[in-house]
Amino acid sequence: MKIYKLGEEVLRQKCEPVAEITDSLRETFNEMFETMIEADGVGLAAPQIGIAQRFFVIISDDDVRRVFVNPQIISTSNELCDYEEGCLSMPGFNENIRRPAKVTVQALDENGKAFTLEADGLLARIIQHENDHLDGIVYIDRGDPNFAAKVTDQMKKRLERAAKKEAEKARKAASIAAKLAAKEAKKVK
Ligand code: NI
Repeated sequence: MKIYKLGEEVLRQKCEPVAEITDSLRETFNEMFETMIEADGVGLAAPQIGIAQRFFVIISDDDVRRVFVNPQIISTSNELCDYEEGCLSMPGFNENIRRPAKVTVQALDENGKAFTLEADGLLARIIQHENDHLDGIVYIDRGDPNFAAKVTDQMKKRLERAAKKEAEKARKAASIAAKLAAKEAKKVK
């Protein structure tokens, strides 16, 4: 799966609730886990794979695969803590972000069964980070505005470079195709 990067529209959208958990959606969860593991991440939210719907997957330090569909954080602790966050949608950057140390979340699992989870530590952190993605919020929005501006600018430049490379590739492919077609045309004569 392609992981969408900061600067792409879908990461800033407010996601829609999931209407039905189908086999095809369960397949998507599996692919998200594979994509996330390959990218060395601990959480991945639907907009990061280009889907503006409310679900995310997590593998925290207990190695349990957790799926959250239509999650709602129903309470947060007054106690706050700092933790260095990163995001697969802006690789290569990290920043300390202050958030509640504990959260209680309600969601549906991959089978559509409702559950309530009280989380602390890394799991609480990942849940908050991923839940933010569903509202078009990324972690840098919650940190130093100067850092956010720097990351946004550098990600924009990266996207521009990638687009240029793609255009160059397409031009080359078109040119090769044209040459081959000309050759074929000669043969026919
Ligand atoms: Ni993220």
